[in-house]
Amino acid sequence: MTAPLPVVAYDGGTLRFDHLELWVGNAKQAAEYYITALGFRPLAYAGPETGLTDRASYVVAQGAIRLVLTSALRPGGPINDHVARHGDGVRSVAFVTPDAAAAFRHVVAHGAVPVPGLALAVRTYGDTIHTFVERSGTDGVWPGFVAWDSPAHANAPVGLLAIDHCVGNVGWDEMDHWCRFYAEAFDFQELISFDDRDISTEYTALRSKVMRNATGTIKLPINEPAHGRKRSQIEEYLDSYGGAGVQHVAIATDDIVATVRALQANGVELLATPASYYDDLSARVGEIDEDIATLRDLNILVDRDDQGYMLQIFTKPLQDRPTLFFEIIQRHGALSFGKGNFKALFVSIEKEQARRGNL
Ligand code: FE2
Repeated sequence: MTAPLPVVAYDGGTLRFDHLELWVGNAKQAAEYYITALGFRPLAYAGPETGLTDRASYVVAQGAIRLVLTSALRPGGPINDHVARHGDGVRSVAFVTPDAAAAFRHVVAHGAVPVPGLALAVRTYGDTIHTFVERSGTDGVWPGFVAWDSPAHANAPVGLLAIDHCVGNVGWDEMDHWCRFYAEAFDFQELISFDDRDISTEYTALRSKVMRNATGTIKLPINEPAHGRKRSQIEEYLDSYGGAGVQHVAIATDDIVATVRALQANGVELLATPASYYDDLSARVGEIDEDIATLRDLNILVDRDDQGYMLQIFTKPLQDRPTLFFEIIQRHGALSFGKGNFKALFVSIEKEQARRGNL
């Protein structure tokens, strides 16, 4: 029997999103898409020229967001296995914290499973992992990477500022297991839960709980499918991704109208909203700063809670498989996740699902 790991101070409230690492089929081309379509700037590179033998990684940045796009350099190995099973997808949701070793020891002592061969990393749902990172002012461009400037013509930033929340889809009846995992290992709390009465349309249903750390800097909603007349959009994801994984990443902007216009100009495909959604919008959300005709033109959704209101819009999936997509969100005080929009949003998602023959 091995002695338990010493448990030192862990304050989950200090965690913040550091970066997401995506394992993809062709990181070089994916990086150019994030630069030219989504307004990221090239930041750093690691590959054979910097001493890596099995992979190449490109870091792109916008606001406080860092994405690491990684591909394998030869057949076989974990990156290719991941891409073969899941397609392009999020491998790691990395948290920055003042003491990464202490955070790692704490979560492992409370049930998280370390990732073999990778320091300061633990498994979560599916093949997804969490990595703990420490940052000091002396890290340079990116530890282990060299500065990288893409030859692509970069567009202007589109106003993406920071990761607001990161959503996982898990299998049938697995939501409560993973919520307990975040509560026990990470000291997160349940912020809010939605059942299939909140999140269902004529056809499909899902359940969702939002786990967050004490300060609200990390919000991780977890979705599971629920029974409906037709196949849940979460089932479509699970079938397409080959199991649980990150469904969407919500990114904050402070001017969603400008951000959406810029994304449209760059050719990013956004979900349409049924025109009827805007008919009684004023009655539902009351006074807002934005012009409703503009929101209608741009398909931007609005929701209000007792703290304020929020605006949101969703991209179509960012790869051929109907898996990972982005949400763009602007909060005017509201802490909500757009419960009032679920119906309109899911009708729109189902239209796309039906076009793929998966409804
Ligand atoms: Fe979301």
